[in-house]
Amino acid sequence: MDPTLRDRIHSMLGAAVASSIPAAGGFSPATRERLVLADGRRAFVKAATDEATAGWLRDEWRVYGALQAPFLPRVMAWEPESATLLLEDLGEAERAPPWTDAAVDAVLRGLDAVAAADPPAAVPALDSRAFSGWASIEADPEPFRRLTVCTDRWLKGALPVLVEAEAKAPLAGDSLLHLDVRGDNLFLRGGSAIFVDWNWARVGNAALDRAFWAPSLALDGGPSPEQVVGHAPELAAAVAGFFAHQSGLPVADATPAIRTFQFAQLQIALPWACRALDLPPSLAAGGCFGGVGRAK
Ligand SMILES: Nc1ncnc2c1ncn2[C@@H]1O[C@H](COP(=O)(O)OP(=O)(O)OP(=O)(O)O)[C@@H](O)[C@H]1O
Ligand SMILES: [Mg+2]
Repeated sequence: MDPTLRDRIHSMLGAAVASSIPAAGGFSPATRERLVLADGRRAFVKAATDEATAGWLRDEWRVYGALQAPFLPRVMAWEPESATLLLEDLGEAERAPPWTDAAVDAVLRGLDAVAAADPPAAVPALDSRAFSGWASIEADPEPFRRLTVCTDRWLKGALPVLVEAEAKAPLAGDSLLHLDVRGDNLFLRGGSAIFVDWNWARVGNAALDRAFWAPSLALDGGPSPEQVVGHAPELAAAVAGFFAHQSGLPVADATPAIRTFQFAQLQIALPWACRALDLPPSLAAGGCFGGVGRAK
């Protein structure tokens, strides 16, 4: 660990760092390590490594600084200047996958609790233009076409339907949203879910957290999107549009692995949107983009 960070943690927590191990998972270049302190306590540090990660950590603080709830790790210390966050170490809690029924239920109950919390004043409302991936693809289809997940003929027929459906997606609401719910951003303890990584938090329609979780859940061997979201054609279109658009973009401020993961989620979300909107599979003749993630 960087000696400056080590000293900073010492002064923030009043005990030296005895040992540290990097946390698994995640895509941002922020420092993320599990710590054992000289006085025997444990902690988790997430610290900025550049301006982008500092901004994301300050965004996370909008939630951690305002809320204490069973679905959040306990905050041990925060230093705004360096954007250094010290949290309760959750490293001994359970993880998913495997997505057992109990684990899925714990997350659904956890998301209900998130939606029932008073959103902190500093958390912004969801921008109604946030999920307009298909409209962006309509304006510039090349990055999406290069993904070769559909024929040009399919795109010509399906795009107007997808653009229209995504524009009708119910985004507005007054619930706190995490907006990055997936296995590597949550822990399970005592039958309850604890969510980390809050930099995307917004205020909007609670159904969005389930909808954006659904592709990674199915990808990890969990239930299908229909089983956790129900029949939601407009949300399915918005989610698929997000991953369709993002998967084609260049990578900035993160590891390229994020695109691989978004593309994998597209392989669930696009068939889901096709099923929900009665569109044909995007690749005919046994192509995977119609056969993956079918409702069980
Ligand atoms: N309080 C905690 N205790 C133990 N491990 C944690 C804790 N918070 C996060 N982690 C681990 O660290 C990983 C990275 O942390 P986090 O998800 O907050 O940041 P990130 O990866 O930088 O963000 P992103 O997922 O958007 O790329 C998590 O996937 C998880 O495995
Ligand atoms: Mg993360």
